[in-house]
Formats: sequence, structure tokens, C-alpha cells
Amino acid sequence: MSICSEVIGIGSYLPSKVVSNQELEKVLDTSDEWIRKRCGIQTRHWADTKETTSDLALRASHKAIEQAQIDPSDIDMIIVATVTPDHEFPGTACFLQAKLELPGIPAIDVRQQCSGFIYALSQADLYLKSGAYKNVLLVCAELHSKCLDLTPRGRGLSILFGDGAAAMVLRAKDYEGKEASQVYSTAIHSDGSFAKMLWCPAPGNGMPCPTRIDAGMLEEGLQFPQMNGRAIFTHAVRHMSKSLTDCLEANQVSLDEVDLLFFHQANLRICEAIEKQLEVRPGRVYNTIQEYGNTTAATIPLGIEHAVRNGVLKKGMLIATVAFGSGFTWGSSLIRW
Ligand code: UT7
Repeated sequence: MSICSEVIGIGSYLPSKVVSNQELEKVLDTSDEWIRKRCGIQTRHWADTKETTSDLALRASHKAIEQAQIDPSDIDMIIVATVTPDHEFPGTACFLQAKLELPGIPAIDVRQQCSGFIYALSQADLYLKSGAYKNVLLVCAELHSKCLDLTPRGRGLSILFGDGAAAMVLRAKDYEGKEASQVYSTAIHSDGSFAKMLWCPAPGNGMPCPTRIDAGMLEEGLQFPQMNGRAIFTHAVRHMSKSLTDCLEANQVSLDEVDLLFFHQANLRICEAIEKQLEVRPGRVYNTIQEYGNTTAATIPLGIEHAVRNGVLKKGMLIATVAFGSGFTWGSSLIRW
């Protein structure tokens, strides 16, 4: 009998503060019209300054564990995907582990930016299928609001990002047939030759100074993400379209057989371009970017949780997820919910 993995619980947490485009207009030399038209974003959630990434992760984890109806002590591995960690080291998974009071089990950070969910899912699925673990807590958490250049210089990036966390409990089970809920497949890719298309240069050992950051770098804003938005847009459409097509082909499934598609949402226009390119039937792509902004690794699981909570995603449905982001990294997955 072979083993597969299935999602048995999902939960999310969005900080209570909702930031509208109009509020950003006051500081960023931007406009509600520009943001809606170019990116489709209307609001995003931003955390309280006292909150940490692992706090967001903890709240989402509690909900996922409750829904999974397992005892927290049954979790035997924690994977956290984030590009906005509590501290440079140790990993945010360790901080979350301490808050969950689950010492001893492995706690791993995934640093794959917008593709973080798919990379984390791929790890969880493989560990479960190998028989090494029975229950994996997978958490995607982002706290961007402390990492944004909130001066007009940063307007190209700072309008995009929101805070939030989503968690899943995945369980290993004996294979019950093709129609049973399970992760069918994951595929992950990267191309580091584009690493500096979207990156945060400082502080870093790659910087030519003994303290990883200096006053000149701070003045230049190198502690904030730097992005070539146009190039990323083009690569995102190409890689996400191909990754989704490859995923469906590998599983011998047609696009029409997929009930819902969850794309990483950096910009609604990217999602629309993929929909158009692949001729996706209307209503199949589930978007939350209008409300949440770009929440990097958390985007896809936040979308899935939103769809479950609103009764759109039901048990037995077939879903595909696709992401692209900094690295470049990209990937896809096919799941029977
Ligand atoms: O999740 C991580 C991966 N990231 C992405 O996938 C992002 C992909 N890229 C994008 O979504 C888009 O490139 C952006 C939304 C970031 C930018 O849109 P764009 O259409 O590529 O704008 P642009 O950077 O080429 O700038 C066009 C104009 C410029 O003005 P001029 O030179 O034409 O006068 C910018 O200065 O828009 C201006 N601009 C803004 N205006 C108002 C740039 N940002 C803003 C802003 N508000 N926030």
C-alpha cells in the first residue's frame, strides 16, 4: 500500500488594520486609480508594529490545528515559508515552534519568496509520502508592512504588499484511490541568474562593507526590496502559464477538469494575462488580491482558505496552484481537496 498526503485542516489570520489605496495616497505620491488600474488592489491588511511574523503564523496555525481535530502534540514537523522573517536567524519556524510549545520536532524555514507555498508543500508532501512523518504543519506568513519604503521613492513596490498568514495541517494516509483527497503532484523550479531582478540587498554579507550595511546604503534605501517590475511581469506570465500546462499534462488532466485555480497574485493583471493566454473559462481563477494585496508566500493558501470559508471550494474538488517570484522561483501543484 502506498502513502499519499492530504490537507486535513486550514486556517488564516489577517491583521485587523485595513489600509486603503486612499491612505497610501497620503504618503506615496500615488493614486487609488493608478493602483486599481495597474494592479487591481483596493485594500491590504497591515500588522500592528508589536506583531511579528511568527505571531501571525501562530494565529493561523491554531485555526488549522483546530480544524484538523488533532492534538498539537501530534504534529511531527513544522515548515514555515516567509520572505519577511522575525529575524535573520534563527528561522521563523523556530520562533513559531517555541510559541506552539512543540520542542524537539524539526522546524524548517523555506525562503522561496512568492513560490514559498509550493516549495513548502513539495517538502511536506515528500516527507509524508516517504513515511518519515505523519502530520506536518505548513505555515506561510508574511509581515511586509515593516519592510516597505513608505516614501515616494518606494511607491512602485510599497503599494503591492500586504500582511497575513495561512496554515495547513497535512497528514500522511494510505492511498485510497485516485478520487480520494490528496496532493497529486508538485513541481518546483528556479533560475538564480535573475536573482537581482527582485531582491533586498542590505544588510547582507554580499555588500562591500564590514558591517553588512552602512549609512550610505541606508540613505540609498538598499534595506528595502528593489524590483524590475516590467521584467518580472513578463517572466511571471510565461513561467506560470508553462508551469500550469506542464502540471496538467503530467497528471493527464485537462484545464476544464480543474474546478479552481489559485495563482500567486502579485498583480491582478498578471493573473488576467495568464487566464487569457490559456483561455481559462471565466470564474475558475480565485482572486483575493483586491482585498489582501500581494502577501507573497501566503497568497495561495490565503486564497484557498478564503474559498473554503466562503463555501466555494468544497471537498472533492480538483484545484491547481501556480506561483512565480523572486529568485526567480516558480512552481505548481495539483490537489484533490
Ligand atoms: O510578488 C513579487 C513579484 N512581483 C511582481 O510580480 C510584480 C510585477 N510587476 C508589476 O506588477 C508592475 O510592473 C508594477 C505594478 C510593479 C508596476 O507597473 P508598471 O505598469 O510596470 O509601471 P512602471 O514601473 O513601468 O511605471 C510606469 C509609470 C512610471 O511613470 P512614468 O515614468 O511613465 O511617468 C512610474 O513612475 O508609473 C509610475 N508609477 C506609479 N505611479 C503612481 C510607478 N509606481 C507608481 C505608483 N503610483 N505606485
